Formats: sequence, structure tokens, C-alpha cells
Amino acid sequence: FDPGTYETLELDLTDGVLTLTVNRPKALNALSREVVSDLWKAFTAIQDSCTHDAGWPVRGVIVTGAGGKAFVAGADIRQMSSMDPDTASEYGRSMHGVTLLIEKLPVPVIAAVDGFALGGGCELALACDFIYASEAARFGQPEVNLGLVPGFGGSVRLPQRVGLGPARELIYTGRQIDAAEALRLGLANRVLADRDELFAAARATIGEIAAKAPLAVGLAKQSIAGATGRSTAKGLEIEADAFREAFTTQDMREGTTAFLEKRSAVFTGK
Ligand code: HXC
Repeated sequence: FDPGTYETLELDLTDGVLTLTVNRPKALNALSREVVSDLWKAFTAIQDSCTHDAGWPVRGVIVTGAGGKAFVAGADIRQMSSMDPDTASEYGRSMHGVTLLIEKLPVPVIAAVDGFALGGGCELALACDFIYASEAARFGQPEVNLGLVPGFGGSVRLPQRVGLGPARELIYTGRQIDAAEALRLGLANRVLADRDELFAAARATIGEIAAKAPLAVGLAKQSIAGATGRSTAKGLEIEADAFREAFTTQDMREGTTAFLEKRSAVFTGK
């Protein structure tokens, strides 16, 4: 499995955990058009590897930022300052594509936020399955300070994550919140003392998930993403399809048989 090499990203695959680092520290890892394009290519390569035939080389992804000061400080303000409306719209939609790709990926994607996750950075983190933050994390949707609105999914995913009231307040004020507040709002799942503990915790959680049946984890993720924002009836239909699909896997037979035989299941990803 070769996830490729990228101008703006660093990729490291260790023990099934792919760490994807946005690497433009001089611009606080802002999501230039080049970064968006690299993210699309990298997540497509990861998606293609998530099969039994490929051996499930990636069992989870950690998304983070280089340099220690920022996760991602947003869309690239320098590039946006000279964009016309059509170009800007295409920029926003291309990042929407990346976020949908992350949601479709059948393995867990954890945003490890150390430092600023602002605007497009917060939106990238929101597209991940969940967020772990260091105490140095700062979150916000400061677009209104620039005469902008969220453009990489924040107006959809922030209310889904924290509820309408807190999302409106964050987006209308452009206010930054710290890690403790993000935890309180349910924006972050956990807060860790520092970067080392942050990565250790994210790796441990991916390891815990990797011991489960990968197709089941993928179906659960697909079911949640599919049902989010839909009516209860539609969501239940999507869940029913995923539940049925699970019964077509060898791992489901193994999991239920192992339980009845009072032994640990050995999952193969088939
Ligand atoms: C381009 C950025 C940037 C960004 C920082 N930089 N954020 N470049 N786009 N989003 C650059 C700065 O210009 C500077 O470059 C260098 O990174 C370091 O930043 P400083 O501002 O000097 O650092 P500091 O004073 O510590 O302040 C940190 C900060 C601030 C509070 C995070 O940089 C900041 O407010 N950044 C913008 C955050 C923001 O508004 N994000 C939302 C963008 S809109 P030089 O060359 O001077 O060293 C958005 C919309 C998404 O994301 C939808 C689009 C379709």
C-alpha cells in the first residue's frame, strides 16, 4: 500500500494507523487549494486500500497539523482574498468533496487537535468521526470577522455536533473557545494534557477499534453518516440495510459463533 507522496501533507503508516499531517506550518497549515487537492488524493488512496483483498493496511486515520501551533488555521485567506465568487464556490465545493470522502471512509478518522482549529480547520475536524484535543486546542468559526460564512461544512456539521444554539453563537460571534469548553459542548470527545498524550490516546482508540470486525465498523459508520440529518423513518431504513449487510459477512458468523463457544473472535475482515 502506497498512499503516495504529497507537497502539503505528511503521511506515516505505523501499525495500521495512518497519521495524516497537514504540513504548511508557516501558514499555520491553512487549507490552500493545493492542500485540498492533496487531501482528496490521499483519502481516495486510503479508501481504495480499505478492502479484504488489499489486506486492510489502514485500520484508522489520525488527522493533525504540523508545527505544534495549529491544527489548521482555516481556509487560505491569502488565496481567498483574490478569488471571484465562482472560483470561491468551486473551492468550497472541492473541500465539501473531501469531507464527504472522510465520512465515507470505512475506518475511523480521529482529528487530533493541538493548537488552532479555526474556520476550515474546525470544519475539517468536524468531518472526522470525532475529535481529541490537547489542552492547547482552540476552536472557532471566525468567518464573520472576514465578511465570510463557513464554507467547508460548518453550518451543517457544527449544529449537528453541538446543537443549534451553541453553533449559532459560535458562528455569529466568531468567538474562539478553549479545549475545556469544546469538551463541555461535545465538540471534542476527550481533552489530553499535551501532544504526546493526544497521539497516544488517538492511537489507543484506533487499536481498540481495530480489534473489531472491520466491515461491521465500516457499516456502522456508513449507517450513522447516512442517517444523520434524515427523518427517523429514512434513518431506520438505512440502518436496516446495514444490519442486513452485516449478515452477509464471514466475520458476523465468526463473532456470533465465538460468543456461543465462549472464546475470543478472530476477525479476518471478510
Ligand atoms: C493564510 C494564514 C492563515 C490562514 C494564519 N496564516 N492563518 N495564512 N490563511 N487562514 C499565516 C499568517 O498570515 C502568518 O503569515 C502566519 O500564518 C502566522 O500567523 P500569525 O497571524 O502571525 O500568528 P498569530 O499572531 O499567533 O495568530 C494566530 C491566529 C491568526 C489567531 C490563528 O493567524 C489568525 O487569526 N488566523 C486566521 C484564522 C481564520 O480567520 N481562519 C478562518 C479563515 S476563513 P506571515 O506570512 O505573516 O508569517 C475559513 C472559511 C472556510 O476558513 C470556507 C472557505 C470556502
